[in-house]
Amino acid sequence: MPSVLDVARARRSIRKYLPKPVEDEKLQQVLEAGRIAPTASNAQKWRFVAVRDPETIKKLVNACGGQAFVGEAPVFLAACADGPDRVMNCGQKARVIDCSIAMSFMILTAAELGLGTCWLGNFSNDKVKRLLGIPDDSDVIAVTPLGYPGESPDPRPRRPMGEVVSYEAW
Ligand SMILES: Cc1cc2nc3c(=O)[nH]c(=O)nc-3n(C[C@H](O)[C@H](O)[C@H](O)COP(=O)(O)O)c2cc1C
Repeated sequence: MPSVLDVARARRSIRKYLPKPVEDEKLQQVLEAGRIAPTASNAQKWRFVAVRDPETIKKLVNACGGQAFVGEAPVFLAACADGPDRVMNCGQKARVIDCSIAMSFMILTAAELGLGTCWLGNFSNDKVKRLLGIPDDSDVIAVTPLGYPGESPDPRPRRPMGEVVSYEAW
């Protein structure tokens, strides 16, 4: 069984998908990984919207900056913050961090199950909200297509450990 680190190393952003449905059981496991992710004060003020309707997915391409591969995947996942934001003592917005952690858990679980994802920042909050009936006071924080990969990209470069890690102080 691969370790979490093995899966994290093997994960890639996938921008080509096979026209093969995602089994309900696998989708449930991906969503479960989001459900159990940690949140500030355990607030869990979120909703994960899984879209499987092909017509809606087609419309989501435009809401995601015209990124055509969004329309290839059989599932589209949106991690949404439910209700107003709370700024933590550290100055950061809790719901952005909460939903990002959940999305990270979900994309790693997808990778473990042999499914591809591509975290998208290029989307219109307003357009996705309108298409998915998301309430006014909620926001879409992170989205991804989900499906069987139609490509196996090489790893993208990462900065070396010595550049990004220091011990005891900056
Ligand atoms: C916050 C965030 C936003 C991103 N937005 C997009 C996007 O809109 N479109 C896209 O094709 N890739 C997007 N990516 C994927 C990155 O380009 C990708 O993660 C990075 O190049 C490293 O490649 P890898 O994920 O295969 O390791 C995004 C990734 C993150 C974390």
